[in-house]
Amino acid sequence: MSSSLPRSNAALAARDLAVLWHPCTQMHDHETLPLLPIVRAEGVWLYDADGRRYLDAVSSWWTNIFGHRHPRLVAALKEQLDTLDHVMLAGFTHEPALELAEELLRIAPPGLARVFYADNGSAAVEVALKMSFHYWRNQGRGAKQRFIALSGSYHGETLGALSVTDVALYRDTYAPLLLQPVFTPSPDAYAAEPGESAADVAARRLGELRQLLQQHAAQTCAVIVEPLVQCAAGMRMYHPDYLSGLRALCDEFEVHLIADEIAVGFGRTGTLFACEQGGITPDFLCLSKGLTGGMLPLSAVLTTQDVYAAFYAEYRSGKAFLHSHSYTGNALACRAALATLGVFRDEPILQRNRELAAHLARTLEPLRAHPQIADVRQCGLIAAVELVRDRRTREPYPAEERRGLRVYRHGLEHGMLLRPLGNVVYFMPPYVITPEQIDAMVAVAAAGIDRATE
Ligand SMILES: Cc1ncc(COP(=O)(O)O)c(C=O)c1O
Repeated sequence: MSSSLPRSNAALAARDLAVLWHPCTQMHDHETLPLLPIVRAEGVWLYDADGRRYLDAVSSWWTNIFGHRHPRLVAALKEQLDTLDHVMLAGFTHEPALELAEELLRIAPPGLARVFYADNGSAAVEVALKMSFHYWRNQGRGAKQRFIALSGSYHGETLGALSVTDVALYRDTYAPLLLQPVFTPSPDAYAAEPGESAADVAARRLGELRQLLQQHAAQTCAVIVEPLVQCAAGMRMYHPDYLSGLRALCDEFEVHLIADEIAVGFGRTGTLFACEQGGITPDFLCLSKGLTGGMLPLSAVLTTQDVYAAFYAEYRSGKAFLHSHSYTGNALACRAALATLGVFRDEPILQRNRELAAHLARTLEPLRAHPQIADVRQCGLIAAVELVRDRRTREPYPAEERRGLRVYRHGLEHGMLLRPLGNVVYFMPPYVITPEQIDAMVAVAAAGIDRATE
């Protein structure tokens, strides 16, 4: 039936707006903002129904690390489709799930020994929070019921994950429904005092966290962090010293460390995992997004043998972790993830990312002088510029002016998918981007920033 209907941007958008409700969207915006029907994708490019193309400078919400329809991932999925699609993972297993677990444990920071699957990032965070709480309870320490998170944190939008999220836009409305974590100030280097380095901020924030732990450790299950970059808060970045100091504090105060690498894992920050830059192994490592190269939903929580052992007992002890999702360890998703790890194994991805990151840094350099930009920051292949009304005082533009949205519109008009976070224009491109495409990406953003701030 649908093949006889027109396949233009306008026709598909009209059909969509009659039936769909989109994520993270005030649907009313689409009375003026075009909704873009994408009919094909390849490499860094998305193609709309009118034949225009857009460079996916945000890797489709940070998932699509090798670009769209990477041939190796496509081939692996086709092969998997011919053998096994899906089987429940309780009481059954399959090679994609177990091989992926073996491979993840081989490449993850040392000391992680078990893999628990879920099917999206928020679900992985739920698993880690519940497992940490349940671990302490199984150890006879049921008073540990709270979590510590950083200000500006983002860990997802299901109620548990949202509880440890500190982005007002997403959290405030639902606050009455949420757990009550303790928030500790983020080591965000943008918030440095005059004369302070990023390492100084990290040291000061660790001091504050120590005080908090002195007060709350007996009731605290875990501290949860996004290692090195708080992405949803506006790509706020911090010094790796914070991670090593945090690991030491968690050990000293007998509190778990949950590293949420859902956005920063798989080579994004310059190392395969961001935790490596702090030289640490967390008690729980949450992975998703780039895990399948952006092809299919899947997440994994890696944890230690110590945690696993606390649940391992006769059934009647009631210690089992009875959490489940129907699609836990889906075979197709696991196969896509294995193909993704294969690309890392066989190609010099990290080396190439470092070269691309150096090129991106050079291309962004002139923006440092822009009168409406207070900060240009970068960590590997994540870069961000902070738009401000007053560069001297760093006074932000009021959110309701929606300056970032103006950059977004400009980007689309010029074949570029940029999706600013409020006043922060950022770049998180697929790793297959070329230096010339980086130049084009920054040029479109710079012109968009000029238009948005005039
Ligand atoms: C650090 C972090 N944690 C968790 C999530 C939630 O993942 P999902 O959107 O798959 O639920 C995100 C999503 O952006 C994220 O950036």
